[in-house]
Amino acid sequence: MCGIVGFAGKQGGEQAAPILLGGLKKLEYRGYDSAGIAVRDDVSGETRIVKAKGRLAMLVSKTDEGRAVPGFCGIGHTRWATHGEPSELNAHPHTSEDGNVIGVHNGIIENYQELKAKLMRHNYTFYSETDTEVAIKLIDYYYKKYLHTPVDAINHALVRIRGSYALAVMFKDYPGEIYAARKDSPMIIGVTQNGSKDDGTYLASDVPAILSHTREVYYLGELQLARLTADGATFYNLDGDEISIEPTTIEWEADAAEKGGFEHFMMKEIHEQPKAIRDTLNAYLKEGQINLASESGSAPLDLSSVRRIGVAACGSAWHAAMAGKYVIEKLARIPVDVDLASEFRYRDPILDEYSLIAVVSQSGETADTLAALRLAKERGIPTLAIVNVVGSTIAREADYVLYTYAGPEIAVATTKAYSAQLIILYLLAVQAAYEKGIINLDRYSALIQSMQQIPNAVERTLDNKERIQWFAAKYSSAQNVYFIGRGLDYAICLEGSLKMKEITYIHSEGYAAGELKHGTISLIEPGTLVVGVLTQEDLYEKTISNLVEVKSRGAYLMGLTTFGHYDLEDSASFVVYVPGLDPLFNASTAIIPLQLMAYYLSLARGLDVDKPRNLAKSVTVE
Ligand code: M6R
Repeated sequence: MCGIVGFAGKQGGEQAAPILLGGLKKLEYRGYDSAGIAVRDDVSGETRIVKAKGRLAMLVSKTDEGRAVPGFCGIGHTRWATHGEPSELNAHPHTSEDGNVIGVHNGIIENYQELKAKLMRHNYTFYSETDTEVAIKLIDYYYKKYLHTPVDAINHALVRIRGSYALAVMFKDYPGEIYAARKDSPMIIGVTQNGSKDDGTYLASDVPAILSHTREVYYLGELQLARLTADGATFYNLDGDEISIEPTTIEWEADAAEKGGFEHFMMKEIHEQPKAIRDTLNAYLKEGQINLASESGSAPLDLSSVRRIGVAACGSAWHAAMAGKYVIEKLARIPVDVDLASEFRYRDPILDEYSLIAVVSQSGETADTLAALRLAKERGIPTLAIVNVVGSTIAREADYVLYTYAGPEIAVATTKAYSAQLIILYLLAVQAAYEKGIINLDRYSALIQSMQQIPNAVERTLDNKERIQWFAAKYSSAQNVYFIGRGLDYAICLEGSLKMKEITYIHSEGYAAGELKHGTISLIEPGTLVVGVLTQEDLYEKTISNLVEVKSRGAYLMGLTTFGHYDLEDSASFVVYVPGLDPLFNASTAIIPLQLMAYYLSLARGLDVDKPRNLAKSVTVE
């Protein structure tokens, strides 16, 4: 979704505009439809705002790569339209009429109509359809009304704003300064004081934007404010009192957010899966045993007393949870209910029976997932977050945190984070089964050994990518694809289908194979591609029967199974084999060909693999 960058640099140091454009470039992956920057020219004292609709390249060219907007302090934004169409007028930064307050905003201001009406009664006029313009003018209103400092003016505005926001604001009367505030939308501040030209203070809504400049960052907390100058940052609470925030060092390598020789981030991230899996396993395996010590600093999770688990997540994270449900229920015999986070709170869930509510999220910022977590906390249920981004809001608010060690994921279509989420869920299942006395030490050790084989098995699966590439080229004009499977294979189908639709724009559905006859089979016509996933021995023959049923209605069959099941070729025209592990872990290898197939199909259709239309990497609004 939207991205924010800011830079308060030293006079004579690095110019702000190229830094802002560079930072925005790193945030492109989040999805956007327009972009803009505001930089204060220290000679004229004026702040220039330049905006462009469409790709960032438009803004880069319009500003002559930043050269046309001189100055050492500025803010930038990539907008993903919510209020008002994508246009230059609606793009950020927005400004008060006299240019007194200029700002950018991520999130949604729910009561913007009411605030706008109030401001109009005080003779404010509006040029855009955005909620952001309302926020900026509200800050301007309080600034002028009380002749307060920027911190007071922002605080007055914030207590009246309902919704979510990360705000970065510059005031005409305060040259060289940027003010930031946040609620439910991430904001980090990075500082460099190394004597180098790019010394100064950085602001960003996401780590990759500033990773090439600094790894020392402050995570701005809920309803906290920051004042940035070239020399550092000062933090305040809603009362305007100064507070202190501990800095954190980002462990990601500076080049982790680069393509590293691959044509697309997605392909790079697909290839990083063995490492993501290995790193995640290594973080929790100590001397042949699983140690799920939470990173939240709380006491370790006591799985022996867990009676029922609820999981809330969105998109692929929800699919990982669906796979986790099968594994946990089968191994540890703990009932697991998986909810779409966007549905969770609105069904007024009965939570008393849950010993644990877990949320799964790559970004740790997904609005619905965060809301589910907060609801569980409000109701007093212990919460566990399975999160990739260190220091994200979900990670900071959950009682227990188990990080996935996938590193930064840039492509909108998740691959390595999903794979790492599966690993955490397997670890939970195995450890719970052991702590509950359902499996003995031998089985426990065997399962751990099987998990340790996953990275190599994924590597071997990746080695076979040319076959998938060939198949994708053949099917690039497909209009509908159905993925069918049973049990754990159904969970794999859901994820395979999502990968397909989000980056190829081909209509696809992941279906429980046994459900086909209850409606969907009427959609099968000659040539329809049906992908059967068969990694579960006990369900193998049942799914074969379903495949044969659709084949006799004209479907073209692709089969996905483990090595050794060569009889599948009797039914399916194209079969992909993956190394078999303990069947409970087969999702980890089976998902790889499906990710590759979506990738190659997207490529063959000439689409933007990493930034599919209408999608954003992190969905921070409802
Ligand atoms: O950051 P999160 O894991 O909470 O994001 C959840 C979904 O938005 C995400 O998995 C989405 O479905 C991916 N684009 C799928 O590839």
